[in-house]
Amino acid sequence: MSSKYSEYNRIVEEIKSCTKCPLHKTRRNPVPGEGSIDAEVMFVGEAPGEREDATGRPFVGAAGKFLDQLLASVGLRREEVYITNILKCRPPGNRDPREDEIVACTPYLWRQIELIKPKVIIALGRHAARVLYAKAGLKWTNMSKKHGSVVEASINGHRVLLAVTYHPAAALYNPKLRSALQEDFKKIFEAVKASDKRRHGRSLLDYFRTS
Ligand code: URA
Repeated sequence: MSSKYSEYNRIVEEIKSCTKCPLHKTRRNPVPGEGSIDAEVMFVGEAPGEREDATGRPFVGAAGKFLDQLLASVGLRREEVYITNILKCRPPGNRDPREDEIVACTPYLWRQIELIKPKVIIALGRHAARVLYAKAGLKWTNMSKKHGSVVEASINGHRVLLAVTYHPAAALYNPKLRSALQEDFKKIFEAVKASDKRRHGRSLLDYFRTS
């Protein structure tokens, strides 16, 4: 097994036996994340919900179905990207993540980023956006100002394009947010392709069917 795989498995095992915050007492299954460990694109959501807690997989409920559609709209499949969350365990009743939980849990996310080395990180929702902006030393304002934006960022010395958009769950019952998310996805992937071309003289993401 490659050392990348071994380190990935080590992170997953540590998450599975983690007791660093009180959420381990109420979780059914921790949700480390899933997808390709060589992914160029990483999605970071907020925290597992009920379906995710029941299955141990990220974004498998209604919000996940919408995320799959958004991925398909830019020519991507789940297996090609990596999907994870700020918190790896479900907050009871799907309440917002607490600061102590974020502090305890995010070292796993930093290790996932360091290992996978995505070119693009897309924060889904304001919690993920705020935490990733803070880690990159960038000033966060709010989602209505920032959604659809792509900025160059450095996370633990790893250079990435950091994009933000609304959380897919927020758009489920709000047609305006639904179309905003669809537009954001288009805009983000256009910006990513343009930036790739500028930096490498060719698009590393040319396999996107929409290109
Ligand atoms: N919402 C999230 O933020 N993450 C999931 O995995 C599912 C729903």
